[in-house]
Amino acid sequence: WVLSVTAQTPTNIAVIKYWGKRDEELILPINDSISVTLDPGHLCTTTSVAVSPAFTHDRIWLNGKEVSLSGGRFQNVLREIRSRATDYEDEKRGIKITKKDWEKLCVHIVSYNNFPTAAGLASSAAGLACLVFSLAKLMNVKEDHSQLSAIARQGSGSACRSLYGGFVKWIMGKEDNGSDSIAVQLADEKHWDDLVIIIAVVSSKQKETSSTSGMRDTVETSELIKHRAKEVVPKRIKEMEAAIAKCDFPSFARLACADSNQIISCVEKLNRHEGTPQVAYTFDAGPNAVLISKDRKTAALLLQRLLFQFPPQSDADLNSYVIGDKTI
Ligand code: DP6
Repeated sequence: WVLSVTAQTPTNIAVIKYWGKRDEELILPINDSISVTLDPGHLCTTTSVAVSPAFTHDRIWLNGKEVSLSGGRFQNVLREIRSRATDYEDEKRGIKITKKDWEKLCVHIVSYNNFPTAAGLASSAAGLACLVFSLAKLMNVKEDHSQLSAIARQGSGSACRSLYGGFVKWIMGKEDNGSDSIAVQLADEKHWDDLVIIIAVVSSKQKETSSTSGMRDTVETSELIKHRAKEVVPKRIKEMEAAIAKCDFPSFARLACADSNQIISCVEKLNRHEGTPQVAYTFDAGPNAVLISKDRKTAALLLQRLLFQFPPQSDADLNSYVIGDKTI
């Protein structure tokens, strides 16, 4: 017999960013962060996990290619889930798996991203969240979403926020063992329904620096990062939470842009022209822009301007130029 579970998880876009770890093994951050989870279906990972007595070792295929499962992060996630597995029984199929059996049964994992992997669009967030969720379902894990978020965090920090829809906060926590470093939902996906998120994929090349090593270099070499973590972000987190609760777009846009590290003159010009912010931009660890527009009308205007300023070279380019147009 084969027992399998398939799940789909959207990625999330941080508007107050996680950048810097205080513990690399457990993936504990130096500051809280806030993100928006995209609607299901667009930028997402689909993962199937299966167990069978016929499987002889754990295996994983990412986007059609088998990769090594020996990486510490996959192993950490598998170990954490296995240790929480509970008895499972399917009388009709005559399948009975005890907590002890789960330790010996091998898993096969097949995972697909429907967007460029490692191009700085938080692919690891969707991927690891989906892996944790599907494994937890398969192994009859009874833990709630916030406890699962602490496991996803050990696969990739940003992944803990993809366990929830809507607006999500990752609380950095204080404990050395990471037990209080979990994600919580600030508002669900129905809140602030007007917002539109546009992902402008200008490059699907893999980013040159991984988030992990970028963060390590920053923490080791930057004096400013301490100031950011201790003084700047706590204030921004409070202001961002208030902006989200009140659906206050000007404050949301000011904070999201301030917390990102590049400038889009097109967005700034449009906001200046209107007198008050209409659009926010934010970048993750790659060159691809994420634009958040206060409503559909503004999103349409912005797209027109972007397409005029950066005309696509071919129809194929047009498809990849904007691959997500999401109402939260
Ligand atoms: C810029 O979660 O990919 O997207 O924990 O090392 O796997 P690891 O890093 P990752 O970093 C995400 C960085 C970011 C900001 C964010 O999502 O908060």
